[in-house]
Parts: sequence; C-alpha cells; structure tokens
Amino acid sequence: MTFRNISKEALAGSVTLGVIFVAGYLFGKKKSSRMSITKSHCGGQDDPLMQYVLNHSMREHPVLKSLRLRTMEDSWKIMMVACEQAQFMANLAKLIKTKKAIEIGVYTGYNTLNIALTLPDDGVIVACDISEKYTDIGKPFWKEAGVEQKIDLRIQPALKTLDELLAAGQAETFDFAFIDADKVNVENYYEKCLLLVRKGGVIAVDNVLWGGKVLNPSPDDEDTVAIDKLNKKLLRDTRINLSMLTVGDGLTLAFKL
Ligand SMILES: C[S@@+](CC[C@H](N)C(=O)[O-])C[C@H]1O[C@@H](n2cnc3c(N)ncnc32)[C@H](O)[C@@H]1O
Ligand SMILES: *[C@@H]1O[C@H](CO)[C@@H](O)[C@H](O)[C@H]1NC(C)=O
Ligand SMILES: *[C@@H]1O[C@H](CO)[C@@H](O)[C@H](O)[C@H]1NC(C)=O
Repeated sequence: MTFRNISKEALAGSVTLGVIFVAGYLFGKKKSSRMSITKSHCGGQDDPLMQYVLNHSMREHPVLKSLRLRTMEDSWKIMMVACEQAQFMANLAKLIKTKKAIEIGVYTGYNTLNIALTLPDDGVIVACDISEKYTDIGKPFWKEAGVEQKIDLRIQPALKTLDELLAAGQAETFDFAFIDADKVNVENYYEKCLLLVRKGGVIAVDNVLWGGKVLNPSPDDEDTVAIDKLNKKLLRDTRINLSMLTVGDGLTLAFKL
C-alpha cells in the first residue's frame, strides 16, 4: 500500500488509527462470546444471532451496499462503522429532524452517505477527514446516490474545521454529530461538538468500549486512557443526558440539555 499522496500528519494518523483499530478489533474477537463487541460489517457474520439481527433489520440502500462491498476491498476496512449502527444513527438523526449534521472521521463515507440519505433536500452533513485517499473511494457512491450536494467534505484536521465552524457563528446550529476519528482528541471533539449542537441535539461517540480495553486501561495506551477519561466525564456531565450502547464497538449518545 502506498501513502505517497498523503501528508505526514495524515499518514501518522491513519497508520496509528488503522493499527489501533485492528488491534482493538482482534482483542474484541478473542472475546467473541461478547457478541455485542464484535463489530458487524453486514457480511459473512460467523455469529448466528448477529446474523439473525442483520437478517431481520437491515434495509440497506442499494448504493450503501455497493459502497460497503467496495470498502471491504480496502486494507483498513475494519475502520468502517458497523452497518446496523449506521442504520440506527440514521434513524435517530431522522427522529430528531436533523437538517445539519457533522461527522468527524469519514473514511470511505458509509455513514456519511447513510446520514445524507436521510437529510431533507436543504440538509447538509459536514464531513471531516484528513485523508482524501479514503474519501475518494466514497465520492462516486455519494454521487450515484444523488446526495453529493448535501455532503460538505473538509479535508484538514477536524479540530481546525470545528474551530472554523464556531468562528463562523455556527454554534448551536447542528442537530447531530458523530465522533469517530483519532482517539487522543476525543474529548476536544466532544467539547466543540457540544458547542455546535443545539439543545435537544445528539452527539454520538463511537468506540467507547475500544474492544474491551476500557476495562483495564494501560497507562501508556493513550487512546484507551482518552476514551476511558471521556466515558467517566460524560457520566458526570450535567450538560447532557446519556446512554451507552453496546452496538458495534460501543456507542455513547449524549443528548444536549
Ligand atoms: C474509524 S475511521 C471513520 C469511519 C467512518 N465514520 C465510517 O462510517 O466508516 C477514522 C477516520 O478518521 C480519520 N482521522 C484521523 N485523524 C483525524 C483528524 N485529526 N481529523 C480528521 N479526521 C481524522 C482517518 O483518516 C479515518 O478515515
Ligand atoms: C441470514 O440470511 C442468510 C442469507 O439469506 C442465510 O444464509 C442465513 O442462514 C440467515 N441466518 C439467520 C440466522 O437468519
Ligand atoms: C436528564 O437530565 C436531567 C437533568 O440532569 C434529569 O433531570 C433527567 O432525569 C435526565 N433524564 C434521563 C432520562 O436521564
């Protein structure tokens, strides 16, 4: 695999993320009696109960399916959101009448596309990533589904995009945020999203179980430490209501009060 066209920062980020995601995933696999930790990409499930869940709930848009199958050919496919989690978040976004959404960590844009499909014609999802290498895989599918005009892709560190949105006076204007990028920044992402989201809006934070590593965070594992720190902070955070779901690799929903 070549990284020639990505910045050093992007490279470091992607490689670290990839390695960590794979490590996290493998860890989860070893504990596969905990079905809930196994992340589902909707195909070839070896757990019959998970297969049953997918068989009896997935209503994947045909273009989403094509993008998923294309993503499964990529070396970092393990980074893709679980399909039933994406469907759940799209239903949730629709329930709260989302017109403006933000996603931090796009990869090939499976979730971005799913949200875009539920947005009204004048809706938008600001999609943040540092690597065009992956978002370029998704773009033709966004177009094929007829929603590319609703996807505002910003290729630069997500913190910069969040600061720009705040500086542009967009605080309290977003309905839904999905945080799914580098873990060391997860608390920063959460704080900035909390400013950007309106009252009654939802912030979804992915990988809050980190393959089970949060049970016993090793002090030199800065990703697990950052996730565990945020989990503990959210429990006490009076600015939100919350739920922690065991879907995918763990998903926390923060409901802004
Ligand atoms: C787990 S993947 C995202 C999966 C995606 N949400 C989906 O639905 O399949 C994480 C992504 O975060 C991106 N990323 C890493 N560091 C970042 C940063 N500082 N700012 C924005 N994106 C970043 C990586 O390039 C990668 O594409
Ligand atoms: C799920 O659907 C697939 C494809 O139709 C089928 O092969 C599999 O047996 C089903 N599994 C369950 C548990 O429903
Ligand atoms: C949400 O938070 C408010 C304020 O802390 C609290 O009164 C309420 O009971 C919470 N609701 C739920 C469902 O946890």
